[in-house]
Order: sequence, then C-alpha cells, then structure tokens
Amino acid sequence: MSTIAIEDHHGLSVCQKQPVAIERGLGSYVWDEQGRRYLDFTAGWGVTCLGHSHPVIVSAISEQAGRIMQNPNSGFTYSPVRARLLTLLQQVLPPGLARVFFANSGAEANDAAVKLARKVTGRPQVIAVQGSFHGRTLGTLSLSGSSANAEKFLPRVPGNIFVPFGDIESLALAMTEQVAAVILEPVQGEGGVRVPPAGYLRAVVELCQANGTLFIADEVQTGFCRTGHFFAVDAEGVTPDILTMGKGIAGGYPFAALALTESVANGVNKGDHGGTYCGNPLGCAVSIAVVNFLVQHDIADRVATMGHHALQVLKTLALEFPLQIAEVRGQGLLIGIQMQDDQLVAQLTEICLHKGLMITPTRGAVLRIIPGLLLSMTELEEGISILASALREQQRGMVAETKLCV
Ligand SMILES: Cc1ncc(COP(=O)(O)O)c(C=O)c1O
Repeated sequence: MSTIAIEDHHGLSVCQKQPVAIERGLGSYVWDEQGRRYLDFTAGWGVTCLGHSHPVIVSAISEQAGRIMQNPNSGFTYSPVRARLLTLLQQVLPPGLARVFFANSGAEANDAAVKLARKVTGRPQVIAVQGSFHGRTLGTLSLSGSSANAEKFLPRVPGNIFVPFGDIESLALAMTEQVAAVILEPVQGEGGVRVPPAGYLRAVVELCQANGTLFIADEVQTGFCRTGHFFAVDAEGVTPDILTMGKGIAGGYPFAALALTESVANGVNKGDHGGTYCGNPLGCAVSIAVVNFLVQHDIADRVATMGHHALQVLKTLALEFPLQIAEVRGQGLLIGIQMQDDQLVAQLTEICLHKGLMITPTRGAVLRIIPGLLLSMTELEEGISILASALREQQRGMVAETKLCV
C-alpha cells in the first residue's frame, strides 16, 4: 500500500489533506516521494523558522542526543543545557519575564499559564477574545474564540468570557474582580491573521494592571521573529505577566515554554505544575541553536524588511484580482490574503500545489503565508509569482463559468 493509503486507512484522519507525501525538506523547499519539489510557504504550521533541516539544528540534535536526552524541568536534578537556555532567553524576552517553565506544545503552555493565573490570583474567570486560537486540549479549546471547534466537545471548561478582539472598550466592560487573566494573541494567526489597532496591547496591559488581572500574551505563533520583532509585544514595548511560546522556539523539535514575571512566579509553589518531558535537554539544545541563530543574524530585522516587501507586492496583486482577493494584511512573515469566499481559498490552494507552492488556508476565507524566516528574496518572489499565475488560472475559470451561465 502507498503512504497515502496506509495513512488514510490506519491513521486517525482529523485534517483535510492534499494527496502528497512529503519525504524530505531542505531550507525553504520540501520534496515528495516522487521527487517533486515544492516551495513551502507553510513552514509546517509556522514551526520551521530556520527552514527545513538547518545544519545548526541537525548538529544540535545529534550532539545532544549523544550526551543526554531526558532529565526534565520537574525532575530530581538540574541540567547545564537547560541553564544555558534559561540564560539565553533572558536576552530576548521582554524585560521582567525572569522565570521560565518549559513545556511540549503551545496548548500545554497556554493551559499551564491559565491554570497558574487562577491559582496566583485566586480568581475563577478568564477573558479571551473572539477569533482566537490557543490549542486543542479541553482547557485551551474552551478558551478559543472559534465556536466551530469547541462546540463539538461541550461542556466547555467554565469561567471564560469572550470579547471582540482589538476592542478595548468591550474588554473594559467585561473586567471584574473575578477575572484572573486576559489571554490573547498579539496578532491572531489561526483566526485569519488579524492585526489589532496600534496601542491595543498597551491599553490591555494598563487595564489589567489597574484591575489586578494578569495579561497572558500567547506568542506561540508570533514569537521568535515571526512578526519582525523577536516577540510581537515588543512592537508596543510592553511586558505581559505571562508570555507563552511554542512553534519557532525549537525550529521543528516539539518544545514550548511559558515565561512569568517574578511576582507571578512568587505565587507558584512546588508541585503546582510538571510534566515528564518538560524542558528535556534535547529540546533545550535545539532551542539554544535556534535562538542563537536568530539573534546573531538579526533575523527579526530581516523578517520586517521581507514582510514589508511581501505586503506591498501582494497588495498590488489584490488590486489586479478584486473578484478573488478582498484584502491583504499581516505583520512580518505572517501574512493573510483575505479571499472573497472559502471555496476560492480551497481552489487556489490546490492550484498552487499543482504549480509547486505549498500554502494553506486558515479560518474566515483566508490564505495564510507563513514561510521559514530565512526565505530568500528570490524564493519570496518565486512564491508570489506562482500565486499570481494560480490567481490568473482561477480567474480564467471564473470567466468561463460566467460565460456558460449566460
Ligand atoms: C496562537 C497559538 N496558540 C497555541 C497554539 C497551539 O499550539 P500546539 O499546536 O503546539 O499545541 C497554536 C497552534 O497553532 C497557536 O497558533
């Protein structure tokens, strides 16, 4: 049986897949089993920030695997490689986030953040925002503002209130002395790449401070230079009480973290949290390699420049194809192309794939561009030119359909 047949038969299919089996990747490209090459604008869901199989990651894995792999955060002993990562993270985290706990996935980091916020404040409620995505555990699903996912698994974990994203007045109205935390993504990713108005994050921080409520910034998708800043909250120079990280933190190795201020950490006691693999030395070694690379090569700056250029070019494309594209928006290399409807998105995704470009839809009829951060200008232009040719092909189909109807 083929790879596709076996996965379809024995795997638990939870996602609409394209009939392509990817066998290897290098830099911005991946190859399928037949040797066909694709330019990857998905980075494995925004994870492979240094591209596929970057040599610094490959050598960090093999060097650390030969030394020791397992000895977690919540284990009996300390770890020199974990200590090195903790020191390094202090160079890149917003000032004041002095304590870090490592986790294995973004959802797990968010779950822990909310759990600890409840304990530290002694309050039962959490405010989240509409359109948000914080993960797929029962706790994080209950906090995700897209009802489509959560309502299949009712009842939600209680105590959550939802307000519109980017709207500080609604947040202020929902704030009470019962609210332990506000959780939101500085730029919404899965919710369709939505950028809040300038000043929103600062206003959220001030509102939380005035009410004794913790602000949890979910930087699982936006962190590690994705938006052209090391963390997206850096754009407004604010420090959340808790910042969660995942995806780019270890460039493809499953790893995550939450960073807390000293004052939040003071409310956490021994035994409050843990996990068998949390902070394992292998993940720490890979994360050190990734963070060092991002810092030493000033990748945040590079992403800001590339993202600006990509937005300009894509906005011109939007003018050329108004019946297909409604808007282009984003920050750094997290870009959303708002299409006129979901059907157009699905069709364009397939046409792009046939032309050698992997690009994925996200919620609300949006096509998301979230490539590796080392993408070259030539690769960016190659991707946009494939996209333009796919849009042209789609447009021709639309015109032909209209003629048939007439
Ligand atoms: C903002 C955000 N938070 C949390 C998550 C969940 O992370 P994970 O899939 O690693 O659990 C995601 C995943 O897409 C995300 O984009």
